[in-house]
Formats: sequence, C-alpha cells, structure tokens
Amino acid sequence: MNRSLSRLAVVGAGLIGRRHIATILQSTVAELAAIVDPQPEAKVFADSLGVPYFAVLSEMLESVSPDGAIVATPNHLHVENGLDCVRAGCPLLVEKPLSTSAAEAQVLVQAANDADVPLLVGHHRRYNPLIRKARQIIDEGLVGDIRAVQASCWLYKPDGYFEQAPWRTATGAGPISVNLVHDVDLMRYLVGDVSSVHAMAAASARGHENEDVAAAVLQFESGAVGTITVSDAIVAPWSWELTARENPAYAPTDQSCYLLGGSHGSLSLPDLKLWRNDGERSWWHPMSATNFPIDSADPLLNQIQHFCQVIQGEQEPLVTGSEGAQTLRVIEAIQHSAMNGTTINL
Ligand SMILES: NC(=O)c1ccc[n+]([C@@H]2O[C@H](COP(=O)([O-])OP(=O)(O)OC[C@H]3O[C@@H](n4cnc5c(N)ncnc54)[C@H](O)[C@@H]3O)[C@@H](O)[C@H]2O)c1
Repeated sequence: MNRSLSRLAVVGAGLIGRRHIATILQSTVAELAAIVDPQPEAKVFADSLGVPYFAVLSEMLESVSPDGAIVATPNHLHVENGLDCVRAGCPLLVEKPLSTSAAEAQVLVQAANDADVPLLVGHHRRYNPLIRKARQIIDEGLVGDIRAVQASCWLYKPDGYFEQAPWRTATGAGPISVNLVHDVDLMRYLVGDVSSVHAMAAASARGHENEDVAAAVLQFESGAVGTITVSDAIVAPWSWELTARENPAYAPTDQSCYLLGGSHGSLSLPDLKLWRNDGERSWWHPMSATNFPIDSADPLLNQIQHFCQVIQGEQEPLVTGSEGAQTLRVIEAIQHSAMNGTTINL
C-alpha cells in the first residue's frame, strides 16, 4: 500500500527530543516537519538539519500545520504545550510523565477527548517487543495468577546531568516522577491496575528539591502485591535503563530488574526467563528455566511508527492520555504517601 509520510514536529530539542528527531529521521513512515525550542542551540541544530525552526509552539502550529507533534519539553510544560496542540487539532505524543499533577493531566486528557484529537503518552517501553512477549507469556497462563512483583530502578545520575538542565533538580522532576513512572506503567500493563500504595522516601542528599530514594508497596486490584524502589543516587546494575538495552547511551549489564511471581511460575525481566517446576508445583521439586528469544527492535521507533498509524487512522492509541493519567495517579499517590506516611487508596 502506498501511503504518505506523516509530518511530525518535535517540541523541545533536549535529551529525549533529539532522540525522537534521530528516530524520525531514520523512520520510513515519518518526516521531520519542524523543531520548536526557545534555546539558540536548537536553532543551530534545526538549521544543520535544514528543518524549519520556531521558538514558540503556537507559531509553529499555525505556520507548519504538522500531522502530529511530539512534546518533549520539561514536565511542567506538558499540559500547556499539549493544550496548544489540541487547540490546533494536532495529534500529539506527550513525553512522560503526562504532567506534574494528575488533575492537570486530566484537563489535557479531557480537552483532547472533547476535541477528538488523538493523545498518546510516551511510555515507550510498552512498545518493546520483549514487554509484549512478557504480556503474552502472562496471558497464556504460564505464570498463573501473579501474586507478587519486585521492581528495582537503581541508578546514578552524575552531577552534570542536573547542571545541564536545572529543571531536573526542581519539584516534580525527581526520580519518582521521571524514572519510576516508567516502571509503574509497565507494572500496570503486566499486572493490572493498582488499588492502593504505601511509600517512603528520603530527601535528596545533593540538595535537590526532590527525593533521591523511594520505596513503595503496591496492592493491585487482582490481589497481587508489589514492592518497587527507585533512586537516582545509587551505583547499581539493576534498572530497566541499564538492563533492557533500549538506549545505546547506557552500557548494559546482564542483570534483570523485575521479578514477577505467580501461582504456576515466575518471570524475570528484561531477560525473559520463565521459571517453573518440571512436574508437580512444590518447593521440593526441581525447577527449570526457559529463556525466550529477545527481539531487540527499538521501542522509540516502534512508538513513532504507531503514532503515524494513529494519525493515519489505522490504529487506536496503545498508550492513551487516560492510561498516562492513570499511571500518573499512582505516581502521585506514591509521592503523597511518602510525604504523609499514609496508605493511599486509588
Ligand atoms: N521516554 C523517555 O525515556 C524519556 C527520557 C528522558 C526524558 N523524558 C521526558 O522528556 C521530557 C524532556 O526531558 P529531557 O531530559 O529531554 O529534558 P531537556 O531539558 O534535555 O530538554 C527539554 C527541552 O525543552 C526545551 N523547552 C523548554 N521550554 C520550551 C517551550 N516552551 N517550547 C519548546 N521547547 C521548550 C528546552 O530548551 C530543552 O531543550 C521530560 O518530560 C522527561 O521526563 C523521557
């Protein structure tokens, strides 16, 4: 079938914005329509690519009318930028977290629904083939009823990462919002919705406005329970970032960071290893592990391809605004619980 390329604009040409730009440039279904970013170096970058440059989003929307926009600005601007796109009738893929507050996120979700403008949230890990395989293994019953999960997101962000973009040290940009949001989204995707959370956190030792370590106990609607911990101040090999081989910027380790335990087996990720008893289920009986082959297709590229299919009316959004908002509600509950010491029911 012959189809036209979707003309995508990227709003915010920082760390992830530039990865989206590189992904669009390598994609066979999209072309780069414009770059929006007030920083002078973004203009130099756009010029080097021969792409229209704008400092202001609304001017780009009016002048270029792209088929879609990727919003990769700092978290606190997502809703404001997203509403501009919705008003212009421009389908949008907003980076995670959808907002710094679930209530504000809901405003954007509602506006997009009312205007019938497709809104996707950049939980790109759901586009990773290994996550789809994990979901298939679970759906086929090979794990049985999931009873418990453990997820670790332990990594160390160097000082330079914060010096480069000071918004990363401000309220709303701590590791719960920026990193754990990915893990919570995957847990929701694999295990189901979360019904309550209880969390603890400690303030950043580097003096940032956020936590630098947090732990949460999750109760899922299915009855499963989970523990999930995050830190951007721990030197460790156990995070999705360092184990999943999604982003070549990270030197990968051969560890896993998620354990999902069920009534008939257990699965570790991202190594896709399934443990089951050979015969009767019993701690007295031997267990064996099956390693499923891992397809390493780039989730960011898959996400762009999916966004283009949504724009062309060929698919419904996989990670909708509502899904992004629901994941954000869990994140917000973790933050509130850590602050107040209470269990929060969702
Ligand atoms: N999906 C992922 O794996 C992933 C990875 C990193 C970051 N993120 C998310 O992407 C977003 C950006 O993070 P980052 O680390 O790339 O930040 P960054 O600071 O590197 O880049 C943000 C860019 O937005 C620009 N900007 C600021 N105000 C703007 C405006 N009004 N209009 C247009 N551009 C504007 C800044 O000049 C900067 O270049 C955050 O929400 C973050 O959580 C997602």
